[in-house]
Amino acid sequence: MLHLAFETSCDDTSIALMDDDRVIQMVTRSQLTEHLATQGVVPEVAARLHANVIFEVLDEVLQAGGVTLRDIGYIDCTSEPGLLPSLMVGKTVAKTLSYGLGIPLQWIHHIEGHIFANLLERGIGDIPFPAVVLTVSWGHNELYLWKSPYEWELLGQTRDDAAGEAFDKVAKAMGLGFPGGPIVAKYAGEYSGTFRRIFPIPLLEADSLDFSFSGLKSAVRREIESRRAANAGILTESDLREIAFEFEQSIVSVLVAKIDRAAKKTGVATIMLAGGVSANDFLRCSLEKLAKRAWYKFFAPVKRLYSMDNAAMIGVRWHYEMTRFAKK
Ligand code: KG4
Ligand code: ZN
Repeated sequence: MLHLAFETSCDDTSIALMDDDRVIQMVTRSQLTEHLATQGVVPEVAARLHANVIFEVLDEVLQAGGVTLRDIGYIDCTSEPGLLPSLMVGKTVAKTLSYGLGIPLQWIHHIEGHIFANLLERGIGDIPFPAVVLTVSWGHNELYLWKSPYEWELLGQTRDDAAGEAFDKVAKAMGLGFPGGPIVAKYAGEYSGTFRRIFPIPLLEADSLDFSFSGLKSAVRREIESRRAANAGILTESDLREIAFEFEQSIVSVLVAKIDRAAKKTGVATIMLAGGVSANDFLRCSLEKLAKRAWYKFFAPVKRLYSMDNAAMIGVRWHYEMTRFAKK
């Protein structure tokens, strides 16, 4: 069945035309340049920008897919979590379309969408369940036991900042702009030294599957302040590269150790990554290495595009919700 998926939870206006779990067309309009001035997303500004472009994006998707609204059988849309004013734009358009066209509407949880992004361009049979899933986004940092496509259980979560939030705050403290993850990763990749562990690697209690990154973030801030104080307020390019590298190594060490701990604790042999930070090359590469070492099967979204906020992940989550009883 043809369906339209909507995702406007933060600063991307994304609409996908899907045929069941297959993406036919997806258009995503980023608000990145508009938010650069404020070095972060102001919810009311984001909502206005969504409202300005959402019908253009819809027209573009329909035209590129060679269909009209009359061909659509279902609407699926992110309901939560996210920035309320941003969510409201997508939700209002989705509900209006559903009402006007007389077709059903399904609300989808954003983080479930990120998890199910792993099924885009893959079949359910490609994933050996059960799996341990690490969600790493701006607002979420959790470990789930994904028992079957239709059942999951929370194993651990962050006690303060999520990994994406920590990347963004560290980038801001270094004066590197927004969003922080890709910029910090770029600087880290340019560093040629070895890992000196100048920052803490917070693993918490021996058996804990929770996360806490606020101490690491504060340690990075202190290091930045002390290097600035020692150099007339200036952070050199070499400082930026080293701090970014040390921070990335520390945070990834925690994420890798925790997913390994969770897999061992639950006796699961499939590990999986979801959310914006899953676009991080060093994290993916470190988990690939862990998988080789420990004989796990490792999965991350097939395309970087599916790691970030996108409507296709909402569409694929809808597909599995619709087919759950048929497939059981
Ligand atoms: O999934 P997402 O859009 O956020 C929520 O749903 O909450 O993820 C956005 C986060 C941002 O914090 C961004 O800095 C981070 O993902 N991110 C990265 C990378 N690309 C995006 N973090 C580290 N390395 C990257 N390459
Ligand atoms: Zn997200």
